[in-house]
This record gives sequence, C-alpha cells and structure tokens, in this order.
Amino acid sequence: MRIRDAVATDAPEISTFLKELTAAGKRKSPDDVGFVLAHYIESTQKIKCSVAEDQGVVLGFQSLQHAAGDTTSGNGSGWAVIGTHIRPSAARRGVGRALFAASQSAAESADVTDIEATIAADNPEALAYYDAMGFKTYKTTENQVCKRFSVP
Ligand SMILES: CC(C)(COP(=O)(O)OP(=O)(O)OC[C@H]1O[C@@H](n2cnc3c(N)ncnc32)[C@H](O)[C@@H]1OP(=O)(O)O)[C@@H](O)C(=O)NCCC(=O)NCCS
Repeated sequence: MRIRDAVATDAPEISTFLKELTAAGKRKSPDDVGFVLAHYIESTQKIKCSVAEDQGVVLGFQSLQHAAGDTTSGNGSGWAVIGTHIRPSAARRGVGRALFAASQSAAESADVTDIEATIAADNPEALAYYDAMGFKTYKTTENQVCKRFSVP
C-alpha cells in the first residue's frame, strides 16, 4: 500500500466505493463523480487529499480542508475539517491510520491548529477510528459527535 495525493482520474473509483458506503447506510452526502471532484480532489479549501493505493486499486481516501470559519465550534482561523472513506472490503487493515499520518503531516506544514471531525452518532466504527487517531469529543448533538484533534 502506498499513500499519494489524489488526482482527478481517481474520482470515478472513489465514487464507486462511496456508493457502496451509501448503500450500506454509512454515507448520507452525495457520492457522484462531480461531488468527489468539487468537494474533495479539486476543492478550493483543500489542504491535502490523499488516497491509499494497492496494486492499482484505490483502497480509501482522506480529505483535509481549511474550515473557512464554518466548523461546528464556530472557530475558523487555524481549523481544518477532515473526512475519511475506506473501501468496505479494505476496512480495518490500517488504511485509515496510514492516511491520517499523511494528513497530520500536511496539517503541521499548513499551520493548522485543530482538526475537526463530525461523525454520525450511530457510526461506531468512525467514532472508534477517530478516537484511535487521538481525536477528543468536544461537542455532541442529537445525531452527531464533533471530535477535535489538537495538532502538536
Ligand atoms: C471508519 C473508517 C474510516 C476506519 O478506517 P480503517 O481503515 O478501517 O481504520 P484502520 O484499519 O486504520 O483502524 C485504525 C484504528 O481505528 C479503530 N477502528 C477502526 N475500525 C474499527 C472498527 N470497525 N471497530 C473498532 N475500532 C475500529 C481501531 O482502533 C483501529 O486500530 P486497530 O485495528 O489497530 O485496533 C472506515 O471504516 C470507513 O471508511 N467507514 C465508512 C465511512 C465513514 O464512516 N467515514 C467516517 C465519516 S465521519
């Protein structure tokens, strides 16, 4: 497995496994190719968008973006938002952990102070994943848990 920057030609493959996540009830945002390009790979707020690839297959991706003042906390300057999506057949193999190492490094280089993850309250895998990466819960609503990672 290697971690590299996502490129536009990754979008169709990413869209394919986002649709699998949607079908499994684990994603509620759009999953089409245009959304992947506009909101992740070619986002104007992008700090880093990485993919994990193994023998030409994209196993997952992670998006790190400037928060642009719209984090749940109300903080903007220095804050970033993160999103992680792993191909279901590649889950729990260390892909998310490897992606976060790249994102954390990019956050440090971009002078990010805090990274926010907003997770559905009924998504135990994602809650456990972000806990394992060092995120701490700082706010909860009826349906969502907001976790924050303080960049060292
Ligand atoms: C949540 C998700 C990103 C985790 O990615 P992953 O590549 O499977 O995670 P890793 O294998 O790198 O796991 C790292 C650590 O996270 C925790 N973890 C990950 N998946 C877990 C699970 N299903 N149950 C319990 N802990 C889990 C563990 O501590 C794990 O370390 P360990 O395997 O050494 O015990 C992935 O399952 C996913 O994409 N889920 C669907 C989409 C989603 O919910 N994204 C988050 C939206 S906010």
